[in-house]
Formats: sequence, C-alpha cells, structure tokens
Amino acid sequence: MSNYIIEGGRKLEGELKVSGSKNASLPIIAACILNGKKNTLYNVPNIVDTNKTLEILKILGCNIKKNNNKIIIDSSNIKTHEIPDKLMRELRSSVILAGALISRFKNAVFSYPGGCDIGSRPIDLHLSGFKKLGIEIEEEGGYIRCKAENIVGTDITLDFPSVGATENIMLASVFAEGETLIKNAALEPEIVDLQNILNKMGAKVEGAGTNIIKITGVKRLKEVSYNIMPDRIEAGTLLCMVAATGGNVKLKGVVPEHIYQVIYKLEECGCKVECQKDLIMLQSPKKLKAVDIKTMPYPGFPTDMQSVFGAMLTIAKGTSLVIENIFESRFKYTNELKRMGAKITIEGKSAVIKGVKKLTGAEVEASDLRGGAALVLAGLVAKGETKVENIEYLLRGYENLDKKLNSIGAKIIG
Ligand code: EPZ
Repeated sequence: MSNYIIEGGRKLEGELKVSGSKNASLPIIAACILNGKKNTLYNVPNIVDTNKTLEILKILGCNIKKNNNKIIIDSSNIKTHEIPDKLMRELRSSVILAGALISRFKNAVFSYPGGCDIGSRPIDLHLSGFKKLGIEIEEEGGYIRCKAENIVGTDITLDFPSVGATENIMLASVFAEGETLIKNAALEPEIVDLQNILNKMGAKVEGAGTNIIKITGVKRLKEVSYNIMPDRIEAGTLLCMVAATGGNVKLKGVVPEHIYQVIYKLEECGCKVECQKDLIMLQSPKKLKAVDIKTMPYPGFPTDMQSVFGAMLTIAKGTSLVIENIFESRFKYTNELKRMGAKITIEGKSAVIKGVKKLTGAEVEASDLRGGAALVLAGLVAKGETKVENIEYLLRGYENLDKKLNSIGAKIIG
C-alpha cells in the first residue's frame, strides 16, 4: 500500500476547480446500461471507484472509451447479466448496476456486496423494493439471482431514505408497466442528477430532490450525452482543509446550494464564506471556534463530511460534539488522530472533541475513504511530518487530491 508524506504547518491559499461527483457518476454509469446505445458522459472523475465500475461494464460487454474525464459507454452489446464476485467485493457500490440490468434484461446475478469499514451496508431496502416491483429474488451461496417476467409499477415506501435504494428502484422501474412511487425517498443532489440523465434519455421521472419520486414506465430510451454534477463532498473536504490551515481559497465549478449545511457550520467556526453561482470563496479566521455537528440524511449535515470536519475541530478553540447518525462505525479515524495529539472521547455514536493548541506529525493509517481524508487534513496542520499509509482508500474518491493541495501551498509527496 502507498502513502503520502505531508509537511505540516503550511497555509493553503489559491484557487481550485472541483472534480465531478463520485456519488453521481456511479448511478449515472449504471443508467447507461438501460438504453443499449452509445452514451457520452463529461466531468466523470478519474478515480478508482468510477474506473472499477467501468471495468465491470466492460466485462458485461459494453464498449468503453475513456479520454480523461470524458467517457463513452456503448451498451448495445451486453452479453452477460452477472456482476463478477471479485469486483463486487472490491466495489460494494456496484450493487447499483443490478437495478439497471434487471430493468433492461429482466435478469441480474450478483454476490452480496460486503460491508466496509464504516458499517455493515445492508441492501434489504434495495431488495424489498425490487420484490414489490414483481422481481423474483433467490438468495443462495452468497449470490443474489433476480429475474422478472414483467416489472409492474407500484407504491414503495422506504423505511429509511436510503440513497442507493432510491437510485436502484428508480433504475429498476424506468421500463415498468405503469407508475411507480418511491415514498420516503432520499433527497440527495446526486438523485436529482440521476433523474436529469434518465429524463434526457426519454424516461419519465419526477420529484427527485423531494421525498416522493414518481417514475412512469416507458418502452425505450435514446442515446444521451450528459455532464456530471460537481462533487459536493470533495468541495466540503477542500474547504475544511483550507480552513484548518488558516488559509483562503476560491473553489470553482461548485454548486454552493449542495453544501450549504457545511458552509453554515464553517461560518459558525468563524470562517468568512462568500458564494456565487458556481463559486465558493472562503477566508479562515485566526483561530477556529468549536461547533457541534450531527449527521443526517440530506439536507442535513452530510455523513461523508463528518470525519474531515471532525479532524478540523481537533484544533478549534473549545469543545465540539459530533454525532454520527447514519453509519455505525464511522469514528475509526479518531484513533489515528489521537496518535497526533488530538483529544477525542467516543461514546456510542457521539464523539467529544476537545480542541488542542496543536497536533504533532506521526505515522497514521487510513482505513476508509473519508477517514483517510481526515488524516490528510491533520497532516496539513500538524507540526512536523506526517506519513499517511494506505492512501489507496483516498484514490477511490478524490481525483488528484495531492496535486490539488500542492497547487495551493501544501507539501505532499505521494
Ligand atoms: C451513499 O451510500 C453514498 N455512496 C455514501 O457515500 C453516503 O455516505 C451515503 O449514500 C449516505 O449519504 C454512494 O453514493 C456510492 P444509504 P449508500 O443507503 O447508498 C442503511 C462515500 O464516502 N441502509 O443512504 O450505501 C445503511 O446501513 C460514501 O462517498 C439499510 O439499512 O447509503 C446506512 O445506515 C460512503 N438498508 C443508511 O441506510 C439498505 O438497504 C444510509 O445508507 C440500504 C441502506
């Protein structure tokens, strides 16, 4: 596994462009299975998770052409509907391909997506939604076999506004007979992006961004070109990293509305934030103030920002309370931060973070994507040198993070 060597104590200042959204790209790549045509996607981040998803589409029989952030996906020639077990284990989010495969071929086979470091990641809501649509599901030997004579639209109420389940049911019902209503749907902006590309293909989807989404089945879909939305979590991550170093930044190619909860909390910490249509400008205070955060489904504070924001609060003035309501084990990064001098106490789903004057560089290990970003932030502010091991986790979801940070004053050797 490779590492980042980070020289701490350097103020970050300058301008950055945010990459396309990882969490919008994955369901949108899945949507390109539906129409059996040649689709062109722009602003796709060149990261491990999108590249692994494209690898699976190639194995299924798609023709993929990549030119940095422009991807052409020709799904006219799909030969198999089975997602390889090895790749399923490496990329649990490939469960999102199931809905699209079942929709087009009335058939899909995939293995149980494993859990990961932040939680068990069940898919019961995906499967119960499929069953309600008339899809037969057979689970044996770790494989899930889905098949359907007809997919018939119906009302589906989610026990929890699951992002993945909402997206998978949308994909599974675009060709259904009649209407499907998804109630208690997730409201995340990535779901609006998925609705936009589906409708551009000729599907009939409305209500994304609210808690009731209506899908009216259609017969076929046409080829499409589509520009993926910016990555709101990368934007929030970069803002926190700059704020932690006492710097200032102009983020370009962002949608401020997508992360207003994070912006609001950064202002509570004492940052000056100015937003324009696709710009966010942040000026840090001399000393950040402690704040309390609790993660909630959108439009609440995003769980994907919890670890990075928590790392920033380790050097704020005062004591912060961080409550993680979405995933059951998303505090692992705090053990590594304590090696750098952070004062953090974990009680169940709460973390009490007592601000310290400084962190000291150390050797630390990433164990998940966003936890790894928290360790990079700590390395940027710590006194001395920090070695972050297992940066492969970071490469899953952040495009050129070290290059971006070095371009605004960091010193990261990767
Ligand atoms: C998506 O994961 C994102 N991943 C996650 O980002 C994000 O943290 C999460 O949504 C919440 O916003 C992608 O979009 C690829 P969920 P997803 O289904 O769809 C429970 C990152 O770092 N649940 O909304 O898996 C589940 O256990 C990643 O970029 C069920 O109980 O999230 C969790 O507690 C991490 N049954 C909660 O819902 C189900 O069938 C939220 O999960 C599905 C989920």
